[in-house]
Amino acid sequence: MRWILGTALAASLAFSSSAWSQDCAATIEGNDALQFNLSEINVSTSCDSFSLTLKHVGTLAATVMGHNWVLTTTPDFEAVAMAGMAAGVDNNYVPPDDQRVIAATKIIGGGEETTISFDPSELTAGGAYTYFCSFPGHYAIMKGKLIVE
Ligand code: CU
Repeated sequence: MRWILGTALAASLAFSSSAWSQDCAATIEGNDALQFNLSEINVSTSCDSFSLTLKHVGTLAATVMGHNWVLTTTPDFEAVAMAGMAAGVDNNYVPPDDQRVIAATKIIGGGEETTISFDPSELTAGGAYTYFCSFPGHYAIMKGKLIVE
């Protein structure tokens, strides 16, 4: 009886850990100190759609300490950050109709949150992807790796 219970427990742990790795959503926080709370986000190409929620846990206004979440390949990241700055606040600091932008949220301020979805099957497993905040001056610090599995 003891052995059976142990096996059932092990099976359920194995199941929950594989369910966790297939999670097709993530939440990332930005704060008033120019920080994201995650330096990596894992995405599986088996997800039909990946849902990304950005929460601004600070109190400063979007005009002062706005944050967004922009995804590009790592080689494109800095050039898109520059183009985003040039595109200005009216475009949420994201260059419009730019093929290099894989996904992007709008700019939000303290206390706000926003969610976008993108199709991970268009990404390459093992490829180099960087996410960042394109608010002017933030991208050098507010960035992380999107790991595609
Ligand atoms: Cu920012």
